[in-house]
Parts: sequence; structure tokens; C-alpha cells
Amino acid sequence: MKLTKKLLDNLIEKAREGMENSYSPYSKFKVGAAVLGESGKIYQGTNIENASFGVTICAERCAIFSAIAAGEKTIKAIVIVFKQKGLGPLSTPCGACRQVMAEFGSQDMPVCTADLSGKKAKRIVCKKLKDYYPYPFNSKALK
Ligand code: THU
Repeated sequence: MKLTKKLLDNLIEKAREGMENSYSPYSKFKVGAAVLGESGKIYQGTNIENASFGVTICAERCAIFSAIAAGEKTIKAIVIVFKQKGLGPLSTPCGACRQVMAEFGSQDMPVCTADLSGKKAKRIVCKKLKDYYPYPFNSKALK
């Protein structure tokens, strides 16, 4: 699927809302995500940390699980936002989140990241899931 500018803007705004709800007292790195479900509805997520660090959930998985819990069977796009520190490379989704994206999204699914350190989204990068995760483990291996 191809993301129109309007849809991308809507997803970024939903992801920003998610980011504002981030519970990240340990890393202080707020992340937001927005997922487009197959129904056309948008679901937001955020990173939710825990004093037992390993229990933390990333924004991407939070948004995807929220979509699935609401009845979506597949996801069509995901946008991830954060406040980028400095001019270094833009953050990318972690490996666990890429694996979960591959469970519910196609290899051609748009995966976009954007820096929301300012008022307007900067450095918007849209790739396909296969660019981030070309050889996912999937159910074929279990047959
Ligand atoms: N985090 C995400 O939400 N998504 C990612 O893809 C990478 C990391 C969160 C988890 C943790 O709350 C914080 O960023 C620092 O790792």
C-alpha cells in the first residue's frame, strides 16, 4: 500500500499523542507509534517501562497489540516517532518489534520513522518492512 501525505500526517499526529503518554522514567526516551489496521482505523502506542527493565514494552508492539486486541487481523502501515538526540543516525525499530511487524504486516508494509523533537516532524523516513527485516521467522517454519 502507498501512504498518502494526508494519511502519513494523521499517523504522525496519532503517534505524537502516543509519545506524549510515554512512561519512560528510566531511559527518558519517549517513543510513540501509530498503526493503520486493515479496517482503516488507526491505533496508537507508546513505550511503557518498568522498574524490572526487561518487562518494558516498546511503542511499536504496544500499538500493534492494541490493533489486534481491537479485532484487526492485519496491519497496513506503522509510523514511529521519538525526539532524536543530536544529528546522529535516526532511530530504527528494535528487532523484537520487527518480528512482531512481520507477524501481522506484509513485507511491503510501509514503516516510517520521524523526529518529533521540534514542533514539526523532521527527517521522515519511509521504508518497507523488508528493508528492515528481510528474512523473518514465520509460521512456514512450523509446518
Ligand atoms: N523503544 C521503543 O519504544 N521502540 C524501539 O523500537 C526501541 C526502543 C523504547 C524502549 C525503552 O522504553 C526505550 O525506548 C529505551 O530503550
